[in-house]
Amino acid sequence: MTHILEIKHMTKTFNESSFLLRRRFDNTPPAVDDFSLSIASGESFGLVGESGSGKSTVANSIMGLVKPEAGEILFEGHDLLTMSQQERRALYQEMQMVFQDPYSTLDPKKTVGWSIMEPLNIHKIGSKAERKQMVLEALTDVELDEAYFNSYPHQLSGGQHQRIAIASAIVLRPKLLVIDEGVSSLDVSIQAAILNLLNDLKKKYQLTYLFISHDLNVIEYFCDRIAVMYHGKLVEIFDSANTDVSKRADYTKKLVEAIPQIYLT
Ligand SMILES: Nc1ncnc2c1ncn2[C@@H]1O[C@H](COP(=O)(O)OP(=O)(O)O)[C@@H](O)[C@H]1O
Ligand SMILES: [Mg+2]
Repeated sequence: MTHILEIKHMTKTFNESSFLLRRRFDNTPPAVDDFSLSIASGESFGLVGESGSGKSTVANSIMGLVKPEAGEILFEGHDLLTMSQQERRALYQEMQMVFQDPYSTLDPKKTVGWSIMEPLNIHKIGSKAERKQMVLEALTDVELDEAYFNSYPHQLSGGQHQRIAIASAIVLRPKLLVIDEGVSSLDVSIQAAILNLLNDLKKKYQLTYLFISHDLNVIEYFCDRIAVMYHGKLVEIFDSANTDVSKRADYTKKLVEAIPQIYLT
């Protein structure tokens, strides 16, 4: 089995930067504590845990948005935490992230076409005409009419926002998509449509997903393997095909019982 992503013994602590408050916050526990997991190429890997358990910190560390103080994050065997800025920039073309809040992802003053084209501009891919063609193809991929090229975010629904966010993530043809609470703010029926779309795109482009949610129902439906996180630590990893709930860790059982009570903060 080839692993596209391996996290080894990663620890991230957010220290209070205020000098006056430092003493008080010296004992802040790590947001992510000696955390390890491996994702196989082509897998839909789920990460679940209640709000504040450290899921987004894992995602943000993978994407280089926060810097862990210990551990390794290997993308196809290369450690993202020790490589040069230049190497990292090249690799980030192959990993993209879809964030939780569809409304804050897009620049309200820019057209949809502009937003999807932005990553192509940043990575200097193709001629102007080729870029436009790639954006139109990405719109078709997320099942939106090409006419949306000239639309503005305020003209879109929540589900359409999230489709645009997905389009701008796949336009670079990444290998890995990190989806942090990508459907959590959407109505259930729209969630299902987006999950189906992600499954179609996965087949079409041989994508690997790290799919993060506080909602074990969604995770179990969508993912092959599931890691459970609690207070920054890995509780267990299980196969979603194995429905024998009695074999799961006590915390995971509690998470199942608590499903209706767990909400995002
Ligand atoms: N940028 C940050 N600065 C300080 N603390 C943070 C920051 N991001 C997350 N945290 C803290 O780290 C812990 C884990 O948060 P997070 O990774 O967002 O969890 P989750 O995504 O599972 O809800 C929380 O206690 C949170 O307050
Ligand atoms: Mg989060």
